[in-house]
Amino acid sequence: MIEQLRADGSLRHLLTLETLDRRQIERLLERAQSFVRPLGERPPRSRLLEGATVANLFTEPSTRTRVSFELAAMRLGATVVQLEVQLSSRAKGESMLDTIYTLQSLHVDALVIRDAEPGVPALAAAHVAPHVSVLSGGEAHVSHPTQGLLDALTVYQHKQRFAGLAIAIVGDIRHSRVARSAWHAFSKLGVSDLRLAAPATLMPEREEFAGCSRHTELASALAGADVIMMLRIQRERISEAHLPVGEQYFGAWGLTRERLALSRPDAIVMHPQPMNRGIEGSQVRCTKLPGAAYAAHLGAARRSTNCSASYASCESTRACSRKMVPRLEPIRVCPVLSPARPVLPPAPPCAPRRRCAPGRG
Ligand code: CP
Repeated sequence: MIEQLRADGSLRHLLTLETLDRRQIERLLERAQSFVRPLGERPPRSRLLEGATVANLFTEPSTRTRVSFELAAMRLGATVVQLEVQLSSRAKGESMLDTIYTLQSLHVDALVIRDAEPGVPALAAAHVAPHVSVLSGGEAHVSHPTQGLLDALTVYQHKQRFAGLAIAIVGDIRHSRVARSAWHAFSKLGVSDLRLAAPATLMPEREEFAGCSRHTELASALAGADVIMMLRIQRERISEAHLPVGEQYFGAWGLTRERLALSRPDAIVMHPQPMNRGIEGSQVRCTKLPGAAYAAHLGAARRSTNCSASYASCESTRACSRKMVPRLEPIRVCPVLSPARPVLPPAPPCAPRRRCAPGRG
């Protein structure tokens, strides 16, 4: 397992939440929360990453994660490079490592990687120069750390706690990096009632997801749940033989009005998106239900926090080791994780940074 922290304990890489402890995750959430602004307001900006260059290498499709990382890096003042992998020399057979060495030689300071192969972000992290950080934007079925942070922050925004919550994760858990990162985040943050609900073919192996209860029908998983996480069927990772049939799947595992009524009246429903409408659920069915908040990416809360998880991780893994925090507005959206502590210490005066010639930032 790659060491994600520097010798001074600060975060250098962000590949997984698995090896972070509770306080480290809380700090990232507090940092992410400090970047949240209501939709319609200008997003926060800072010069924290001024002079740094961030490259996005996404070899799998993405809308939310890629745009979030791009916007986060730009709003922190970095130069952002989007490598269109299909148009890059990777298409001519260049290896991922050669691509990474090339970017590094061009003064890229941080690499955001999404890849369908397990181990690619760790491979990159093991080979980059000491000043370069690697952030996972989604690794195969293994890990999606900023999604895990986003999901934890969304739950906290709605529930103001983790202890005592019952969280049901429903659907294609076996192939889901979202579920694995959510499990890491929620179990470390003190959620003790984590429920997995899936048909046998989509349930993970027994050795995985320690501490979670397993449900082979939806009703017991939803009973009294505070949070329901619906997952997308990962078609791209399932053989044709095991692919569930849409109507049949919705019949057994789709979130209907009647099933949602089994959860608590103030339950929230989350979906990482993209959604297979009519298979995992349909927004109309959920939003019409009185008392239940539908908090998918489509909802304002998640949309405004999505970028914040990326902000937090970009900021925390920036190449510069000097401790700096952006000057930000006080939190206005929801209570902080630890009300007794300030979310961010006062911003220290910025020391002079390496200057870039105008137009070459
Ligand atoms: N939730 C998520 O990772 O969405 P994208 O695949 O669009 O990035």
